[in-house]
Amino acid sequence: MNYCVIGFPISHSLSPALHNRAFRKLKVRARYTAVEVAPSDLGLFMRDFSSKYSGANVTIPHKEKILDFLDELSPEVRAIGACNTIVNRGGKLFGYNTDVLGFMDALKSEGVRNLKGKNAIVLGAGGAARAVVYALKKMGAHITILNRTLEHAQKLAKNFGQNFGGLEDFNKLKCDILVNTTSVGMWHKENKKYMSEAPVSICHCERHCFGFGRPRPRNDMIIMDIIYRPRMTKLLRDAKKAGCKIITGDKMFMNQAKRSFELFTICS
Ligand code: ATR
Repeated sequence: MNYCVIGFPISHSLSPALHNRAFRKLKVRARYTAVEVAPSDLGLFMRDFSSKYSGANVTIPHKEKILDFLDELSPEVRAIGACNTIVNRGGKLFGYNTDVLGFMDALKSEGVRNLKGKNAIVLGAGGAARAVVYALKKMGAHITILNRTLEHAQKLAKNFGQNFGGLEDFNKLKCDILVNTTSVGMWHKENKKYMSEAPVSICHCERHCFGFGRPRPRNDMIIMDIIYRPRMTKLLRDAKKAGCKIITGDKMFMNQAKRSFELFTICS
């Protein structure tokens, strides 16, 4: 049985190592590879997918476009409009989204179960952001989506009845939990190095500020990055220096992978 993760870029992905190790451990005869698929090649790649693969993970930037190639969508994929896991059952392709539970499991593992009445900021408005916004809404948070391209933020905010703005609005907002879903700070294939940038700047000066005119962050402010390579992104390093509670991206990555693996092996 062959499985893969498709994305563009894909060299940063740790999914092959993780899934192959789990297959070996459970003595499942299967192989999991990373396949770089450019956005313009997605249709071509999906044409003979079902004859080649038993399942796949889908990552940046295909999580939304992939829906056009699936036969059945889980209720979550339908609600979110993004899919990160495909299971091939007898030639029929089923789409799931394990990012939602992966994200919620990551928060739970850090003791966060309920965000009722809390102010959440989501950076980014792509496929991963859709799952994060869906999960945060389920947990009761009031959400503001901030994105480089305002129209994308607006569209996502409208879908979920939430607020939106540009990344530059970050310092004007109240924030109990911030989640970065943009790719800023991720391992960079071309440069073969980590991007030493953060999507927003968190001031960590000793005294009193968290951006202009804002009080210093409280210890209970949570800053989470869903990037897992590197584990400590610049955003998280800055947040730590500023005294915030941080949640690294490997937590969500491991949890979503575990749920995808269950779909590949137990339920198929
Ligand atoms: P994914 O499926 O992982 O969410 P995606 O759909 O390609 O991937 O979304 C990537 C997100 O990162 C988008 O919100 C994108 O912003 P735009 O909507 O403006 O494209 C954001 N992003 C990518 N590169 C960025 C950069 N250099 N600065 C700020 N935001 C960036």
